[in-house]
Amino acid sequence: MNDTGPQVVDRDESINWFRETRRRTAGLFGLLIPEAYYDQPIPLRHPVVFYEGHIPAFSVNTLLKRGLGRQGLDDDLELLFARGIDPEDRSSAADVAIASWPSRDTVRRYADRADEAILDALKYAPVEQDGHPVLHRGQAVFTLIEHEELHQETLAYMWHRLPRSRKQRPATAVAVTAGVLPESGQVAIPSGRATLGAMLDEIPFGWDNEFPRLSRDVPAFAIDTHNVTNRQFLEFVTAGGYTNPDLWSETDWAWRTAAGVEHPPFWSRSGEDWFWRGMFELIPLPLAWPVYVSHAEASAYARWKGLRLPTEAEFHRAAFGTPEGIERSYPWGEAQPDPTRGNFGFQHWEPVPVGFYPAGVSAWGVHDLVGNGWEWTSTVFEGFPGFSPMASYPEYSADFFDGQHYVIKGASPVTASGLVRRSLRNWFRPHYPYVYVAFRCVRASD
Ligand code: AVJ
Ligand code: FE
Repeated sequence: MNDTGPQVVDRDESINWFRETRRRTAGLFGLLIPEAYYDQPIPLRHPVVFYEGHIPAFSVNTLLKRGLGRQGLDDDLELLFARGIDPEDRSSAADVAIASWPSRDTVRRYADRADEAILDALKYAPVEQDGHPVLHRGQAVFTLIEHEELHQETLAYMWHRLPRSRKQRPATAVAVTAGVLPESGQVAIPSGRATLGAMLDEIPFGWDNEFPRLSRDVPAFAIDTHNVTNRQFLEFVTAGGYTNPDLWSETDWAWRTAAGVEHPPFWSRSGEDWFWRGMFELIPLPLAWPVYVSHAEASAYARWKGLRLPTEAEFHRAAFGTPEGIERSYPWGEAQPDPTRGNFGFQHWEPVPVGFYPAGVSAWGVHDLVGNGWEWTSTVFEGFPGFSPMASYPEYSADFFDGQHYVIKGASPVTASGLVRRSLRNWFRPHYPYVYVAFRCVRASD
């Protein structure tokens, strides 16, 4: 199994990419006041301190230990910081509650040593080895850097939950609230093929759940040209959408009532007025922004409209299909993702009005498929036929093939540009309300 393809890892490029990623992560931690270090912004997730240790410990575990077969730097910290948690309720989170976390000094000293060791490996070690399970095509290098990019998003949505007094606002954080509400409409997509995933040698790196390629015939359907906006969702709220059990599945309704959910998690109410709980400020509800909601709320809205959420294959067809039958790499074509194509790559801390990036529109005229919020699908997360767990991180996806997670596609404002690729799949529980996930609806055409 020694297919000597071209070198995938360029040492200088990966060093730069690693350094920039570390810098962005440091910037994210710098948004919090020091006193917030042991805060737990999301009750079911670890406190802030965990993530500052988890990211470097994961890199050491993946590249140095698993990949290069070397010793780690600190076995205790590398065990403590090995994995996050994904529980459905509080009782299971209690199982993993940890009595005392290390001091910030300890974590930072560890992280500095880890960074040095990783940089040294990127410079000198044989990080790409044909046929090596973890180092073939430099898998561990991509795994560790993309893992950190994924967690930058975790940090952002955790920070979003914290009170504003726990954060220091950067001078550059300005929300774009003014927007023209687009004509809301649907566009008809004829039946055709959608290619999900990719073949291993087709892209430099993908997570295990992106392989192998899967071809689907997608029957004709019609899809919203824009994400459902706060304005549209407000109509649902006002019409009593949250008090009508007929619109919710049994389990969604049980969750809604038990959790006391009465409006989207990013909204708050003061008398008759609605606000958006922004990263650094409370903003009078921007009606032209996409609404961010859980899968349960998105599904209830769709049912209220007599519509449904798109499948993963329908999303692909709307995003990457064309009337000519060719499938594109990106909704806009083949050009690399750049800041003109959508609200991704840390241009903003919040959404922008829907339709804000006309240069990102798909061949069918569908807007914002990549950026401005991930998008819920109705597809339960599982491996494509032929799935096999990746050697650098075998639990990455397989642990979540439990029927309890739904696929989300696209990208959010804080998804790194490097993660923007057609095959990337993300997933969350249907009642996890914290993530930047928007949605749009479809109708089966008959
Ligand atoms: C793929 C985004 C759902 O945040 O739990 C990070 C990514 N996995 N470390 C998550 C992940 C392990 C994962 N998601
Ligand atoms: Fe992680």
